[in-house]
Amino acid sequence: MIEKLIDVLRCAGPGARQWHQTFLYTTDDDGATVATALRELNERSPLFDVDGVEAEPIRWECSCLQRKCGSCAMVVNGMPGAACDVRLSSLRGKRVTLEPLRKFPLVADLVVDRQVVYDRLRDMEVWLEREVELPKGRRNADAYEASRCLQCGCCLEVCPNFAASGDFGGMAAMVPVARLLAETDADERRRLAASYRSAVFSGCGKSLACRDVCPAKIDLAHLMSRSNAAAVWGR
Ligand code: SF4
Ligand code: SF4
Ligand code: FES
Repeated sequence: MIEKLIDVLRCAGPGARQWHQTFLYTTDDDGATVATALRELNERSPLFDVDGVEAEPIRWECSCLQRKCGSCAMVVNGMPGAACDVRLSSLRGKRVTLEPLRKFPLVADLVVDRQVVYDRLRDMEVWLEREVELPKGRRNADAYEASRCLQCGCCLEVCPNFAASGDFGGMAAMVPVARLLAETDADERRRLAASYRSAVFSGCGKSLACRDVCPAKIDLAHLMSRSNAAAVWGR
């Protein structure tokens, strides 16, 4: 049996005070994730915290529950991740602290507004003008790898150079560019390469602090080296 104290950083809305509220959660399911716990806590009606105080349902986002959409991204015990991907059994200790991603405007409880991730891609003009034919070989594998990005923002959470108010797009911008660099023809690649150099390459410290937090397990170091080679060094 798994028994955890789920400690949620709560907030009623933008600008409101943040405070911690703890819930006891037990399950016989060894595969239970943070998302499982949040769903089951919210199914309790009424929901009581460990002090016996009646609580509002915990606000958080989810859609696929299969690590495919990125909507459940949050900070679990200090590390960003997808709630549906983090098994409770993998977390040491009894207390599990859940906080919203800190790099984005807070909406309520564990919900943030990640619109800036998409705004960056729009500003970089990272989109396809027409249908593309997947090239064969290694580039195709890179395009596939990059296509798995969830736009969850976990890599931005740990990036020392990313700020929602800044110009640097971080890995969440690099990965889609890496895909398009691998898929598009020479003219399109020149345009994308210029965007990449100004919005990603010039702002990135190359520390790869983002490398190990990606819930999709994308090989960020490899994609970055491929994109740098194509967009910066012309190889
Ligand atoms: S390598 Fe460093 S600066 Fe570049 S995106 Fe990753 S964490 Fe940010
Ligand atoms: S690269 Fe990984 S961590 Fe970053 S936005 Fe995409 S899926 Fe999320
Ligand atoms: S709900 Fe889609 S990634 Fe977690």
